[in-house]
Amino acid sequence: MAVHISQHPLVQHKLTLMRHIGSKPKKFREVVREISQFLLYEATADLPLIPRPIETPLAPMQGVEIGARIGLIPILRAGLGMVEPIIDLLPTARVWHLGLYRDHRTLEPVSYYNKLPAQPDIDLCLILDPMLATGGSAVAAVDVLKDWGAVHIKFLGLIAAPEGVARLQEAHPDVEIHLAALDDCLNEQGYIVPGLGDAGDRQFGT
Ligand code: PRP
Ligand code: URA
Repeated sequence: MAVHISQHPLVQHKLTLMRHIGSKPKKFREVVREISQFLLYEATADLPLIPRPIETPLAPMQGVEIGARIGLIPILRAGLGMVEPIIDLLPTARVWHLGLYRDHRTLEPVSYYNKLPAQPDIDLCLILDPMLATGGSAVAAVDVLKDWGAVHIKFLGLIAAPEGVARLQEAHPDVEIHLAALDDCLNEQGYIVPGLGDAGDRQFGT
């Protein structure tokens, strides 16, 4: 399945602000917000529409509305900053949080929170996580969603390493990946280079 990397000048401009070591948490969160909305715009270009008859002040007309039930799956913690800007644009979306952190020694994801309901009552799952590094967290999140019964899943991230994209594509070739940037590599600690550092720490000042 395709990997989409935004080429939009506004995204690239804002990404530079986000990466900059001098951007404090308030600025960082603001830019995460803005880029998330641009990414959502690009990632939802294929959403189905269904007819919705309405009346304008001048005449009846056949309008349309989104014909898919959408679930947002933010990966705690760093995915939290992508929720509000996206739900502002998709107000009927449901939000199911998944708690995963990377073990600093093994770099493998550890699951600590999952309250998915019994039935997958959504048509499209959007996984929200700013960073796709080794890909372990993204693969684990998709595993959980597929075990749950989700069929149509997209991953929305801000920055990825080639290693993470390859791992996610190999494990789940059906999952479309939407990114603001694809960076050079991972360093020995599993951080994306040049990247932006720790996305959770930079959003929350920790
Ligand atoms: C970060 C990020 C991803 C993960 C990516 O979370 O938000 O979830 O690392 O790395 P991976 O592709 O190698 O799995 P982290 O584990 O730092 O947790 P946090 O968001 O709570 O800081
Ligand atoms: N998680 C982050 O927050 N940043 C990275 O570069 C890699 C994983």
